[in-house]
Amino acid sequence: MVLRKSLFFAAVASLYSGGRAVDNGLAVTPQMGWDNWNSFGCAVSETLLLNTAQLIVDYGLKDLGYHYVILDDCWSAGRDASNNNSLIADPTKFPNGMKAVADAVHALGLGFGMYSSAGKYTCGGYAGSQGFETVDANTFASWGVDYLKYDNCYNQGQAGNQLISYTRQVVSDYSMMQANHARYATMANALNETGRPILYSLCNWGEDYPWNWGSTIANSWRITGDVYDSWDEPDARCPCDGPDAWNCGLPGFHCSVTNIMNKASFVVSKAQPGAWNDLDMLEVGNGAMSDAEYVAHFSLWAAVKSPLILGNDIRVITPADLALLSNPAVIAVNQDPSGSSAARKWLYATNGTDAYGGASIQLWSGNLKSTTGGDQNDVVVVLINGNNDTTVMNATLADIFVDNGPAGTAAQVKMSWEVRDLWANRMSDAEAQAIITASSAAGNATTGYNATRVGAGRYNATKTSYAEGLANNDPLLLGKVSTTVQPSGTIIATVDPHGAAMFRLRALPTGKKDEL
Ligand SMILES: *[C@@H]1O[C@H](CO)[C@@H](O)[C@H](O)[C@H]1NC(C)=O
Ligand SMILES: *[C@@H]1O[C@H](CO)[C@@H](O)[C@H](O)[C@H]1NC(C)=O
Ligand SMILES: *[C@@H]1O[C@H](CO)[C@@H](O)[C@H](O)[C@H]1NC(C)=O
Ligand SMILES: *[C@@H]1O[C@H](CO)[C@@H](O)[C@H](O)[C@H]1NC(C)=O
Ligand SMILES: *[C@@H]1O[C@H](CO)[C@@H](O)[C@H](O)[C@H]1NC(C)=O
Ligand SMILES: *[C@@H]1O[C@H](CO)[C@@H](O)[C@H](O)[C@H]1NC(C)=O
Ligand SMILES: *[C@@H]1O[C@H](CO)[C@@H](O)[C@H](O)[C@H]1NC(C)=O
Ligand SMILES: *[C@@H]1O[C@H](CO)[C@@H](O)[C@H](O)[C@H]1NC(C)=O
Repeated sequence: MVLRKSLFFAAVASLYSGGRAVDNGLAVTPQMGWDNWNSFGCAVSETLLLNTAQLIVDYGLKDLGYHYVILDDCWSAGRDASNNNSLIADPTKFPNGMKAVADAVHALGLGFGMYSSAGKYTCGGYAGSQGFETVDANTFASWGVDYLKYDNCYNQGQAGNQLISYTRQVVSDYSMMQANHARYATMANALNETGRPILYSLCNWGEDYPWNWGSTIANSWRITGDVYDSWDEPDARCPCDGPDAWNCGLPGFHCSVTNIMNKASFVVSKAQPGAWNDLDMLEVGNGAMSDAEYVAHFSLWAAVKSPLILGNDIRVITPADLALLSNPAVIAVNQDPSGSSAARKWLYATNGTDAYGGASIQLWSGNLKSTTGGDQNDVVVVLINGNNDTTVMNATLADIFVDNGPAGTAAQVKMSWEVRDLWANRMSDAEAQAIITASSAAGNATTGYNATRVGAGRYNATKTSYAEGLANNDPLLLGKVSTTVQPSGTIIATVDPHGAAMFRLRALPTGKKDEL
């Protein structure tokens, strides 16, 4: 009893001691990849995964950093009682077994991800891993799995406070672990003990404040209920919004992009290398939002260092969506080596027209690694226009640098900055179309594109990491200089309805440094 109590308090103390990222060497920058859930749900198969993996290579997405091909729910056919109750891959959907899928994905130079739930069942009603963590982790490792998305369905009521969802200290003692139902740490330990580095992606929808404890056991944690393909539609199934959204007892699902942005604004400081706030998978390309809305969605996810997991059907990707998802200047913000999230500096309600009322405009900004080699960081600025009208938006240096000194007192406000538009060099739809139609090795005689040419002129992160490209000032990563902003000045941007402007600010030499 005494022992248990002291362990309990040790565990509580650890929750508030500040995060140390989990020590598996993975997700040093936010993970990138593709997951079938948003566009396919339960309609999974070997064919779908391998066709998609091939297209991720052919369309140059792999070389932009989209690495993990993640199989979501509904893949299993239960447990094998004659083999330690290990999970069985559905033989109809995966006729060659799961190891064959992993091998084929690896042969393309990609990583293979899978899914389970810290519950009795998965969300789709398949066998869950609760109580089977060790055997399941061993099965995943034996198949060659590189990534686990770990859901929260059918958790048998074992949620409601941070210790129940977590508690690393007690998991070395199996009986204590059972007593405390430390669901997520149990799987963390089981994965670690396989000896195979497996990226661990918690999907407990933001329940029990995973930003407080997720970093000590996992590489990322979902902060909200499931995203859906909507800009700002309120939905009773995603109940929390507004000032109290961080304290959301019922995360729900059908969360709009702006709902998730709002929830992210409270927890940005929790992101760090190896451990990220997960704003959920991308909806870009799923068809229900405008191009401008998808630009805003992708820009914000990149700037707050969310994992960038594609959620669309790559087999029917449109040129516009391929161009959007292939913007290396925006991805470079997400993959920035300093690994710190942008933060919301202001949100103002507007009188803009909006079917649902309550439109608002927002400014987000944050530090990036210097590309000049000097002391001064680059800075990312994202202006989000919640009005359904084109809006001229203004970001003052005083607001951008408010964390460096209030009310315009920061040294950075007295400097001049180059303003680089990160969307200006988005590839044309014609080029994206050419890439799509060139996916065979022989290519397309009309355009001259083939699988080799697809890479020409594009950023290749397989060859040159984003960190290296930024250090070398690769122009593909730095956007297009649109203007400069003078001391105490303002960046003015005309932003599309429900769209975003995104800039990289780079300090201009001052000559007289001591005047700062
Ligand atoms: C079942 O688990 C035991 C103990 O962990 C192990 O020794 C044995 O090899 C496993 N059997 C199979 C078929 O995996
Ligand atoms: C397991 O955890 C230890 C201690 O944190 C760490 O050093 C090691 O790299 C981890 N191994 C794997 C495979 O994750
Ligand atoms: C919105 O309209 C109301 C009523 O006309 C006005 O009082 C308010 O200042 C306006 N707000 C903004 C942000 O324009
Ligand atoms: C936004 O504006 C577009 C174009 O005018 C219109 O089709 C759409 O219905 C509007 N959306 C909302 C939510 O008002
Ligand atoms: C931004 O500033 C311009 C003037 O430069 C002004 O017309 C516009 O209303 C401002 N926009 C907002 C959203 O305040
Ligand atoms: C070749 O590219 C052109 C232009 O994009 C396209 O119209 C045509 O369908 C492509 N041909 C094949 C065989 O894909
Ligand atoms: C693909 O295009 C490149 C560059 O135009 C060319 O050198 C190469 O021979 C082509 N490959 C095939 C298989 O047609
Ligand atoms: C990207 O770089 C890698 C490593 O150098 C190379 O194998 C690959 O072919 C390149 N991709 C393209 C599309 O050129």
